[in-house]
Amino acid sequence: TNGARSSHRLRHVSSLAAPPPSRLNAVVLGDALASEEHDLVIPKPDFSAQAHFPSPAKYLDLYKQSIEDPAGFWSDIASQFYWKQKWASPVYSENMDVREGRINIEWFKGGITNICYNCLDANIAAGNGEKIAIYWEGNELGADATLTYNQLLHKVCQLANYLKDIGVRKGDAVVIYQPMLMELPIAMLACARIGAVHSVVFAGFSSESLSQRIVDCKPKVVLTCNAVKRGPKVINLKDIVDAALAESAKNGTVVDVCLTYANESALTKESTKWVEGRDIWWQDILSKYPNSCDVEWVDAEDPLFLLYTSGSTGKPKGVLHTTGGYMVYTATTFKYAFDYKPSDVYWCTADCGWITGHSYVTYGPMLNGATVVVFEGAPNYPDSGRCWDIVDKYKVSIFYTAPTLVRSLMREGDEFVTRYSRKSLRVLGSVGEPINPSAWRWFFNVVGDSRCPISDTWWQTETGGFLITPLPGAWPQKPGSATFPFFGVQPVIVDEKGAELEGECSGYLCVKSSWPGAFRTLYGDHERYETTYFSAFPGYYFSGDGCSRDKDGYHWLTGRVDDVINVSGHRIGTAEVESALVSHPQCAEAAVVGVEHEVKGQGIYAFVTLVEGVPYSDDLRKSLIMNVRKQIGAFAAPDKIHWAPGLPKTRSGKIMRRILRKIASRQLDELGDTSTLAEPGVVDQLIALADS
Ligand code: WTA
Repeated sequence: TNGARSSHRLRHVSSLAAPPPSRLNAVVLGDALASEEHDLVIPKPDFSAQAHFPSPAKYLDLYKQSIEDPAGFWSDIASQFYWKQKWASPVYSENMDVREGRINIEWFKGGITNICYNCLDANIAAGNGEKIAIYWEGNELGADATLTYNQLLHKVCQLANYLKDIGVRKGDAVVIYQPMLMELPIAMLACARIGAVHSVVFAGFSSESLSQRIVDCKPKVVLTCNAVKRGPKVINLKDIVDAALAESAKNGTVVDVCLTYANESALTKESTKWVEGRDIWWQDILSKYPNSCDVEWVDAEDPLFLLYTSGSTGKPKGVLHTTGGYMVYTATTFKYAFDYKPSDVYWCTADCGWITGHSYVTYGPMLNGATVVVFEGAPNYPDSGRCWDIVDKYKVSIFYTAPTLVRSLMREGDEFVTRYSRKSLRVLGSVGEPINPSAWRWFFNVVGDSRCPISDTWWQTETGGFLITPLPGAWPQKPGSATFPFFGVQPVIVDEKGAELEGECSGYLCVKSSWPGAFRTLYGDHERYETTYFSAFPGYYFSGDGCSRDKDGYHWLTGRVDDVINVSGHRIGTAEVESALVSHPQCAEAAVVGVEHEVKGQGIYAFVTLVEGVPYSDDLRKSLIMNVRKQIGAFAAPDKIHWAPGLPKTRSGKIMRRILRKIASRQLDELGDTSTLAEPGVVDQLIALADS
């Protein structure tokens, strides 16, 4: 089984007694036997020798500097980017304490730059115009394409010119609903070039979710694509957009233009539904525009993008990132956490619809002038060897993915992996949820031939980039630990009263003081920003994650401690799923909890009470699940519907989720105290109905 969460705790207890850095150096230098005992995985000496950070000592030195003098540390790094005008003084200012007034974070304010310029023009100016920027691999074997940095710039400029022409100005929102075609990073970069704020919506979201996001930020234009093939399935994206735009119009937001890329391998133009006057074919119009376009210079603190993410309550939150700090932070984390070198070929399997695709498909890699693989398809199509086929085809050297994919491929057997050479691989990465040690070991031993360090990067939509991550080659690794903080990041673990815990401990993960990539607000709702993230533990940013620190200082993430569940690395608020369920006319009440799931990490388990007199049926179960697919998207469909004649509630009417979680995971002997329930009988009723 997965065993992610429970084995963390067991493992960290058995590790080394707090060694000074010199002890760890000794370990790195080959005290292999001792380390095996302590479950350490030692980086190969030839890897460490070529790494940016060959030893803990170099890391510790620089880390100390970054904490003692953040302004100096980050301005040295920021100076390596192109700024039209240098930032003013101070380099940063922050208030992270609600008791001191408004929460405020600013980095490099007064600095004038453009992130698209730094991704493209600056790399071209440095002589990399003919370097491959994107290797695009289509869903079908043999479907592929490439763009050099020069060609990418041309495409970005054509779109940027078009957007300007239809009246998109600095600060305007643009919604992007695209599959993983090259046009998706192109669209992001084109917005950034003209100072427009992109809001990418993952193309797995339903029309209702898309419409909600459109109404929230009121774009003039939506950039989309008629359809996409994922595995054997064709998904008609344009139909979803049409429905979303109709719905948005009903709610007062009329979008003037729907620029649609014709992906004719999935759906012909003729079969695409069309709204005259609003819909425009991407290829037809963009070829008419010049392929150079002046940059809109923006302040470091001007907004770059909005990205909606789930919280524990209510509607999704529009996380807002600004330009300068995000640029410096994503570029630096990318370079060091993956030990990036210019000769690398990098592939991140994330979709640009999520933060990982923003920071580590588009911006971080391209700021470094990297060659990036963009994959349209599904990792198990035509079979479970597809990833390694792609790795061999493009000589991928850095491969970054999610534990859920590792676990699903692990189940298919080693032959799908060992059939391929994978000799090009150097560094592996993991993100999205805790990686359980058995998946870690399989990834390390089978995929990476026990040769490639794994960067288990802990971070969030809100953080912009990695906060806790290994630096490959520097530290001995412990399977399942995200290890140590990145430069400038001060993680703290607090107890429920907000007191900082020292040494070996376990509690709530917070961050003290800001880092350049931090989000600045929730779009249109600064108050919610303050209450959600800065009020639980005044003085800190609260991540919503639990974490323990072992005797050696390694960090072990233990999952969300709020009502957010993490399904296949996708963040889903239990409240959103509940609200989709209760919108069904026959559903009276719903309570959703996460349960351990062998492949997805967590699965969605829904307790549902029906309207009086409505009988349970399989059709009703299906139609409830359909409601969730329609309102959120297929990825949020509950794995299990548990009929509940009643829900366990306190006398004041609060649902006791603690008990529901135990019932969902069938830990029936751990129900705990049920005496405070208004009607203790409902628990037995629920247990009796558990597998019906
Ligand atoms: C979880 C994804 C453990 C965590 C980048 C966090 C992780 C949430 C890791 C953010 C990791 C992400 N180890 N847990 N390496 N990476 N998480 O906003 O619970 O989609 O709070 O950002 O994913 O999800 P988000």
